[in-house]
Amino acid sequence: MSNKTALITGISGQDGSYLAEYLLTKGYVVSGLLRRNSVAENQSYRLAHLDHEIDTHYADVTDNSSLARVIETVCPDEIYNLAAQSHVRVSFDIPEFTLQTNAAGPLSILEILRRSGSSARFYQASSSEMFGNSVDPDNFQRETTPMHPVSPYGCAKLFAYHIVRNYRSSYGLFASNGILFNHESPRRGSNFVTSKIVKTAVEIKRGLKSKLVLGNIDTYRDWGHSRDYVKAMHLILNHEVSDDFVIATGQTFTVRDFLRATFERLDLDYHNHVEFDSKFNRPTELNYLRGDAAKARTTLGWTPLTTFEMLVDEMVDEWLAKTAK
Ligand code: GDD
Repeated sequence: MSNKTALITGISGQDGSYLAEYLLTKGYVVSGLLRRNSVAENQSYRLAHLDHEIDTHYADVTDNSSLARVIETVCPDEIYNLAAQSHVRVSFDIPEFTLQTNAAGPLSILEILRRSGSSARFYQASSSEMFGNSVDPDNFQRETTPMHPVSPYGCAKLFAYHIVRNYRSSYGLFASNGILFNHESPRRGSNFVTSKIVKTAVEIKRGLKSKLVLGNIDTYRDWGHSRDYVKAMHLILNHEVSDDFVIATGQTFTVRDFLRATFERLDLDYHNHVEFDSKFNRPTELNYLRGDAAKARTTLGWTPLTTFEMLVDEMVDEWLAKTAK
């Protein structure tokens, strides 16, 4: 068992909550940054079951003095920077906020570490959105694939990815990027497409709704499970050297495939319920993602355990349970 201390920014999010759970099983002392929300339940509902086991601090990655205070207080061995404005389409509406949170935020943490001489290891939640529509000739994206992001979100994440590499080479910080492809779970926010599909399909099954309104359903995504991916984050920070790793399943499906699988699981035909609205389209779309995680497999021994079908099943079962009378 470890006696290390971890600080998780974004601890109240999907990945933050799974990571906190996982690190607790490894014996870590776990602390997290919490952003104030006017509805208190919204800021911590994913953490309610961990209430007495973790320590949370009000702070924000865009508020430098709060960051410095928490890092000084917690004195972490490992920092996992998961805080972000994580919605790609919304990043077109609030590009400057997205930049402040997703790019300037990680830079602030790196600066605090550099200036204080801290030896904390730093994990940056980098994203497959950084690739944009760039794909290798064998139809995979990997660490060496050129990155040409197509959204403010992707551009901000690309800055963070590079500044991590820059602080690693310039100052010798232990700073690593996990380039995570899409990862979902029953804890996924319901404005991301998988969760939106599952939640609405279950509501249709229960007679609570009649239609599901979507944008572009012909894009391809490589969908894994958050629970598997947080283990990769931990392996990345506990590798002997800091480095960058693609984390993905290597399988790709369209949104339409996810839709069909979900509705079939509920004995429904999606054609009878789905409508389209261009307000859910992005000004530029990332069309195809399929990650090659060979480096993580061979270097870290990481492999995902959850298949596409298992993911759909778990999410559907959870929403069925939530809406059961
Ligand atoms: N959200 C949403 N809502 N997406 C829709 C909808 C809709 O109603 N209809 C179609 N889509 C399509 C989007 O256009 C996109 O092609 C795909 O569904 C997936 O959208 P999201 O679930 O919003 O995820 P994302 O791929 O844009 O971004 C996620 O993955 C990134 C990693 O590649 C997020 O988790 C990012 O934070 C993450 O970095």
